[in-house]
Amino acid sequence: MEEFFIIGGNRLQGEVEIDSAKNSLLPLIACCILIEGQVRLEQAVAYSDVKAMCKIIEHLGGKTWWEGGDLVVDCLALTADDVPNELASCVRASIFCLGPILARNGSVKIAYPGGCDIGLRPIDLHLEGARKLGAKVVEKNGYIYASKQKMEGVDIILSFASVGATENLVMLALAAKGTTRIFGAAKEPEIVDLANFINKAGGNVKGAGSDVIVIEGGKKLHGISYKPIPDRIEAGTFLIAGAMCGGEIAVKGAKEEHNRELFAKLSKTACQIRCENDTIILSRKQKLKSFGEIETGVYPAFPTDLQSQMTALACVCEGYSLIIENVFEARNKHICGLKKLGGELISKNGIIIAKGKEKLFGAQVSATDLRGGAALVLAGLVSEGYTTVDNIHYIDRGYYKLEDKFSALGGIVKRVKSEKKEGNCMG
Ligand code: EPZ
Repeated sequence: MEEFFIIGGNRLQGEVEIDSAKNSLLPLIACCILIEGQVRLEQAVAYSDVKAMCKIIEHLGGKTWWEGGDLVVDCLALTADDVPNELASCVRASIFCLGPILARNGSVKIAYPGGCDIGLRPIDLHLEGARKLGAKVVEKNGYIYASKQKMEGVDIILSFASVGATENLVMLALAAKGTTRIFGAAKEPEIVDLANFINKAGGNVKGAGSDVIVIEGGKKLHGISYKPIPDRIEAGTFLIAGAMCGGEIAVKGAKEEHNRELFAKLSKTACQIRCENDTIILSRKQKLKSFGEIETGVYPAFPTDLQSQMTALACVCEGYSLIIENVFEARNKHICGLKKLGGELISKNGIIIAKGKEKLFGAQVSATDLRGGAALVLAGLVSEGYTTVDNIHYIDRGYYKLEDKFSALGGIVKRVKSEKKEGNCMG
């Protein structure tokens, strides 16, 4: 077990390069199942969730390897159509394999997905859409069994703009004869990235980024080399850290258009933000003021994946802040750790009210999920004294060598062996 040891109080200064987007890489790896050839994902990153998806590809009979910073995925010869629980339960994105395996093999047996415990995270929209496309889908003993009868293009209406369901159904629709239209589709940049990937590989997907996506089925995809978009949530995390710590940081490789909501909120906290080509520069010299309120929603609303980090910021902004989490019903566990660090917060039914404090004080805290863990690191960077954050395997799901990046900016974050013994807490 490892933990982060953090000494708070330093301003951040310098440049950080943003990695490729975790939430693009994961569906792109799943989409490789549809391609009987080699795919090169350029400048990919070995997030632990990416490694978990590679294990699934290898279980299916595919091959994956790293070559000069690129991830190569070869699904020329697949020999299985099942994803066992021990692999599927490691990552939410395992469910993105349902569509591609079904589309390629005609049948699939896949266990329920894992992922951060931030709510129930059902998969009903994924399964309803698959049935609409003509698949026979049965849920039994913790597994989903699906088989492809005659699959015809169809109109699918999503009752919620689910990112994962949109991605799964776009990939499954590639195997349906004719045209499929998905109404109420998610519009996140990662959806556009998946569509661009499919089109480069010979597919025909139109309308990604809008709420109606049109997919022409029946086209065989071929191997390609593709560079995923930068990780807008990693970029946002560093910008919020810069706001909290003060100083000036340059976030390289981030796309301005992916974080407009965040910029609007950070500009209210006495930060100066400017964009120069593919670099976002944030500086803060004055005292932090509250951003007022944020309300998370589907893109382009304020992203739920930056809510925890903004809650950490709210703990050290002068005044009161209101945070409303609308996407995941249990995305507030980071409150416990923030309170241990001295944050003054109340949280009920997805609504968080924070009263900004002059200071936070270092403590031993535990990450409960990926973004909640990142929020605790940010709070540790501004806490007096030292902070330890354990359970950092959550953080490693979606940040690569986070400690090295903060250290390069002047923050003091070290990865150390955890004192916490397995099973310390009885009961
Ligand atoms: C993706 O999760 C991301 N993960 C999440 O990022 C992100 O928070 C989320 O989209 C929203 O943007 C990946 O892409 C791997 P959803 P996903 O389906 O697909 C409900 C991170 O920190 N829902 O858009 O699971 C669901 O319960 C992670 O990087 C249904 O009701 O998100 C939730 O309330 C966390 N039925 C809401 O929709 C379904 O069939 C959003 O879920 C599917 C979802």
